This record gives sequence, C-alpha cells and structure tokens, in this order.
Amino acid sequence: LRKICDHEERTFLLIKPDAVQRGLVGQIIKKFEQKGFKLIGMKFMLASKELVKNHYSYLSNEPFFPGLLKYMSSGPVVPMVWEGPNVVKNARIIIGITNPEDCIPGTIRGDFSIQTGPNLIHGADGVEEANKEMYLWFTQKELISWKPAITTWVY
Ligand code: PPS
Repeated sequence: LRKICDHEERTFLLIKPDAVQRGLVGQIIKKFEQKGFKLIGMKFMLASKELVKNHYSYLSNEPFFPGLLKYMSSGPVVPMVWEGPNVVKNARIIIGITNPEDCIPGTIRGDFSIQTGPNLIHGADGVEEANKEMYLWFTQKELISWKPAITTWVY
C-alpha cells in the first residue's frame, strides 16, 4: 500500500453543456468516483464568454474558436476538481481522446459522443495547466480537502 500524502495531485475537469442537456452528469461523475478519485470542488454554473475565452485562450486563432465560445456558454456547465495519484493523466484516459472516431469504448467520449465539438467533458492536459485552470474557475476557498475513511482499501 502506498503512503497517503496530504497533497495528492489535482486536476481540473469541466462537464460541458451537451452532457448537461443529455442528462449524463451523474454517469460522468460516477466514472471518477468509482475509480477512487476524490472530489475536491464542484459547481453548477453558466460560464460567461469571457471565462470561456480565458480558459481556451491557447485556441484563439483556431477557426472553430467562435463556435467553441458559443457552445460552451450556451447552457450550464459543471466545473470540478478531483484529487488522486496521477489524476491528471488518468482522467484524460477515462475521458478518451479528442477525436471520437478513434476513441475506444469504455471511455466517456468513446461511449457517449460521436463529434469532436460537443464532446461532453474537458480534462486538463498537464499538472501546470490543471493548476492554472482550477484557479480560473474556483477560488481557493471553494476547494475542500478532506480525508476519506477507506483510502487504504483503494490505493
Ligand atoms: S487536446 O487533446 O486537448 O490536445 O485536443 P486538441 O485537438 O488540441 O483540441 C483542443 C480543444 O479544442 C476542441 N476542438 C474543437 N472544438 C470545436 N470544434 C472543433 N472542430 C474542434 N477541434 C478541437 C477539443 O475538443 C479540445 O477541447 P477540450 O475541451 O480541451 O477537450
């Protein structure tokens, strides 16, 4: 059994408007919960175009950027922070790759999506990005550290 650290790795995940519209929020959250990751922060909100623009600033020159802003601010989203060993990389595996045509069944996108645009959930691409993104969507106070009683049975 590994030693439990006080500060495990954290990642930022964002359930997108299409997942909310399709009633998939619970199923998506369940994937991370049943894996053994720990929920640290979550809210249900409308994202302004300004916030989405900041979040996806590295894509601002892409032709699909205006459509991405419109889609991401068209309805409620669920930003979340999850904690656990290698959670950044693991969450991306659980989500599945960007192109749904090559996305394997068992992943969120592989099971529930067929298009590159409305692809249900975003996952931070690295520890640094995760840290930057989580403080764009959350204040420090909104992230809550807590100790699960059964951690030693999970890892
Ligand atoms: S990755 O895995 O994040 O590096 O994927 P990448 O291919 O670089 O895409 C970055 C994000 O842009 C979104 N995307 C699109 N949105 C709308 N329309 C089109 N055509 C499109 N192509 C890429 C893609 O879903 C990635 O968003 P996130 O939320 O990070 O998954």
